[in-house]
Amino acid sequence: MPMLTILVGTMYGGALDVAEQVKPLFEKAGYTVAISEQPTVDDLAVSDGVALFCVSTTGSGDFPGNFVPFVRSLKEQSPSLGELRYGLIALGDSSYGDTFCGAGRALDELLAESGATRLGDRLEIDAMETFMADDAAVPWVEEWIESQQLMVAS
Ligand SMILES: Cc1cc2nc3c(=O)[nH]c(=O)nc-3n(C[C@H](O)[C@H](O)[C@H](O)COP(=O)(O)O)c2cc1C
Repeated sequence: MPMLTILVGTMYGGALDVAEQVKPLFEKAGYTVAISEQPTVDDLAVSDGVALFCVSTTGSGDFPGNFVPFVRSLKEQSPSLGELRYGLIALGDSSYGDTFCGAGRALDELLAESGATRLGDRLEIDAMETFMADDAAVPWVEEWIESQQLMVAS
């Protein structure tokens, strides 16, 4: 079975919760799924070309602590990610104004600079509007798998 990695950046567990809730959807679509709570650039190599990022924002538009080493490696190593296709779920809170989903947006730019291709739009989940992030993430992932034709042919 092809492998799909969900790379998580979280402070309080919301983004991890999203990863755990959407994992069965990818399994149903035919993937072996790994959730990476301490993501590394190497995770992208083992993922068969498709990865999902679930990343919240902390501070003033900053990456969560567990995600900082991944971003540092991405900047220092500038790996060539031309083979990577990814989805991005950003968690944030619009009451933070300009830094809303700042980490997810910055990650998207970094991945694009490394040559990776985002599949579909970025999902931004606003804690001001959505109390449980999975309520927004689960239907979005169902639609994402469908629209991007990610189902593994059996
Ligand atoms: C100290 C702190 C700083 C935050 N800073 C931002 C921010 O700059 N931009 C934003 O969109 N959300 C910000 N948030 C909101 C979180 O991103 C949001 O609550 C998210 O759902 C948390 O996800 P997590 O449980 O995965 O950490 C902040 C939350 C806290 C507690």
